[in-house]
Amino acid sequence: MGLVSRCGWTVLAMLLATAATTAMAANVRSPDGQTVVTVDVDRNGAPRYAVARNGTAVMPAGFLGMRFQSQPAFDDGFRVAGTSTSTHDATWEQPWGERRYVRDRHNELLVTFDSAQGAARTFNLRVRVFDDGFGFRYEVPQQPGYDAVNITDELTEFRLDPDATQEITAWWIPGRRWNRYEYPYLTTPLDAVHMAHTPMTVRLPGGLHLSFHEAALVDYAAYVLDHRRPGILRTSLTPWSDGIRVKTRTPFTTPWRTVQIAPSAAALLNSSLILNLNEPNVLGDVSWVEPGKYVGIWWAMHINRATWATGPKHGATTAETRRYIDFAAANGFKGVLVEGWNVGWDGDWFHNGKLFNFTQANPDFDLQAVTAYARSKGVRLVGHHETSGDVGNYEPQMPAAFALYESVGVRQVKTGYVADAGDVRRIDDNGVEVHEWHDGQFQVGHHLRVLREAAKHKISINAHEPVKDTGLRRTYPNWISREGARGQEYNAWGNPVNPPEHVAILPFTRMLAGPMDYTPGIVDLDGFSPQHRVPHTLAKELSLYVVLYSPVQMAADLPENYAKQPVAFQFIKDVPTDWDESVGVAGEIGDYVAIARRQRGSPDWFLGALTDENARSLRLKLDFLEPRARYVAEIYRDGPQADWKTRPHDLVVEKRNVTAADTLELALASSGGAAIRFKKAR
Ligand code: NOJ
Ligand code: CA
Repeated sequence: MGLVSRCGWTVLAMLLATAATTAMAANVRSPDGQTVVTVDVDRNGAPRYAVARNGTAVMPAGFLGMRFQSQPAFDDGFRVAGTSTSTHDATWEQPWGERRYVRDRHNELLVTFDSAQGAARTFNLRVRVFDDGFGFRYEVPQQPGYDAVNITDELTEFRLDPDATQEITAWWIPGRRWNRYEYPYLTTPLDAVHMAHTPMTVRLPGGLHLSFHEAALVDYAAYVLDHRRPGILRTSLTPWSDGIRVKTRTPFTTPWRTVQIAPSAAALLNSSLILNLNEPNVLGDVSWVEPGKYVGIWWAMHINRATWATGPKHGATTAETRRYIDFAAANGFKGVLVEGWNVGWDGDWFHNGKLFNFTQANPDFDLQAVTAYARSKGVRLVGHHETSGDVGNYEPQMPAAFALYESVGVRQVKTGYVADAGDVRRIDDNGVEVHEWHDGQFQVGHHLRVLREAAKHKISINAHEPVKDTGLRRTYPNWISREGARGQEYNAWGNPVNPPEHVAILPFTRMLAGPMDYTPGIVDLDGFSPQHRVPHTLAKELSLYVVLYSPVQMAADLPENYAKQPVAFQFIKDVPTDWDESVGVAGEIGDYVAIARRQRGSPDWFLGALTDENARSLRLKLDFLEPRARYVAEIYRDGPQADWKTRPHDLVVEKRNVTAADTLELALASSGGAAIRFKKAR
C-alpha cells in the first residue's frame, strides 16, 4: 500500500515535471533531467523564475519585468494566464566554426502573463532549457497603449545564494567604464562584484560553474550585471545618449538572457548554448566567407617601429605591403592586413574620426598596384576601416568603401571603433552630434548595418572595439571575428601588460561568447621596453592558435622575427583555423586550460594547452582521438630551461606515436604551454 501510494506520487511528480503547470507556476526540465527552471508570480503578482539542479536550488527566484517611460510597467499585478511546452532536437551545420555540426536539443516553456490587476498588460516569457544551461526572452505582443515604447529599465535578475557571496568565485571585468571590455579579468568573491560585463562566470561552492550572458542581441541594448543587494545581479541596459535604454514598438522580442551551466570548468568549454539561441543564417550562400590566417602591417606600429600616420616611418607604403605579400605567399598565408593606408591618420587619429576617408589612399600607397600584385601571388589584401568611433562619418561612406574594396578583391575588412566608452559619435535626427556607448542600441544597430552592407559586396567583418559577441555569427556568417577583450596589443603598450593568467581566463569568459581576434604568434619575446613584453613562453604563444578560437588568426609578428624562429614558425604555418570538432579537455579558470580540435575536413587533431604563472604538469587523456587509429604527435613544448621571464624561447619539438588509449604527460613552464599536431597515420 505504502509502495503503491509512493509510486502514485512519483508518477504524479513526473507528470508535473514534464508538462508541469498549475494555475500559478510552470516548470521545464533540461533533456538530461538535471536542470529545472520554474516560472511563477509572487504574492504581488511579480513574475519571477528560479533554477534547480538535481533537486537542489541553484538560483533563488529572480524577478522579471521592465519599465517604460510612458506606460505602466511590467513589474507586478500579473498572473500566469497560460503555458505551453514543446521539445526540440535537431542538428544544424555551421559554414565555418569550432565545430561543424551543432546539436540543438532543448525543452521549451512558453508562459503568458497578463494583468490580474490594473491596466490591461500582457507579455510572454519563452524559456529554453538545454543540458548546458538555459535562456529566456520576453516576447511583448502588440496591445493597446503600448505601440511605441521607451524602455527605461529592464528588471531581469540573476540571483545566487545571498549567504554564499563570499564563497562564490567570480571572473569578471568591470562594466560601463571607459575602456569598454579591455580590462584584465578580476578573480574575486561574488561579494566584490559591482558592475560586470558579460560573460561573467562564477563557480559555486559545490563546483558547479555558471556563466551569465545574452544571445542574439538585435535592435536592443546590451546589459551589464549590476550587483545590487547580495547575490542579486540585475540587468542594467546600456542607455542611449538621452538616457532611454531601448526605443522600440510592440510587438517586440528581447535578446535571450542566458546562463550556461556545467559541472566543471572544462565542461563549460563545450557549450553551444549561445549559438543555439540565435537565428539561422539569413545571408544564403556564404561560400565567400573565408576562414584563414593573415599577416599584416600592424605589430610594427604597436611596438613603435612604424607609424599609422604618413611620414618617414609610415608603415602602409606600397613597397612595404609588397614585402608582406611576398612573405604571405611564401608561407601560405591568405591575407595581408594593412593599417594606415587611407587618409585620416595624420595628427591625433584617436580624436580625429571626422577626417577618415575610406576610399582615398595616402599618396605612398597605391591600392590598385598593391591589390593587383596580391592577386598575382594568390593573396588578398585584408581591408581596414578605423573610425575612431565616428560612426556619423563612417556610415555615409560605407557603400562606396565596400564597393571599392570588392572591386580590388578584398574579402575581409577589419573595422575599429577606438574611442572611450560612451564616445561613439553620431549625428541625430536634428543634425546635432551626440555620443553613444559601444554597447547601446545605436551601436548594436550600426554593427548590423555594416554586416548587411558588407555582405552585398561579399565582405566579412572583423570588428575591433566592438559590441560584445552574442552569437550573431550564426545569423550573419560574415561576422567572422571581433576583439572585445584585451588582446595581444596590450603586451606592446598596455599599462600593465596582460598578466600570464589572462589567456587562462579568456576561454571560460570572453570566449564563451564567440571568436576573438586576439592576434597571437609573437615570437620575439625579449621585450620592447622595460615594462613591455609578451608574458608567455614560445610554446604558450603557439598554443593560443588552438586555445583561443577564431576563424581568422593573425601571425602577428614581423617577418624578420619569424625568420629567427623557424621551428616555432612551422607550427604557425601548419595550424588550421576551421574545425570539425572541438573538445575542452581540461582546465581550471585562471590556472590552466587544454583544448583539442579536429581540423575541418581532415582526420588530424590539434591541441593547445597553457598555464598561468605557475609551472605545472598536466596528464591529458587522448580519448578525443579516433579509437584504434594511430597518430604521430608533433609536440611543441617548453624546453627544460623554459620560463617566461628568463628563457621564453626555450622550445623543444618531439614526435611520438600515440593512440586514443594513451595519456599524455605535459610539463608546462611558468607561463608556458604546449601545441600539438596529431597526424593520423594514413
Ligand atoms: C585598435 C585595434 O585593436 C588595433 O588592432 C588597431 O591596430 C588599432 N586600433 C588601430 O586601428
Ligand atoms: Ca583594441
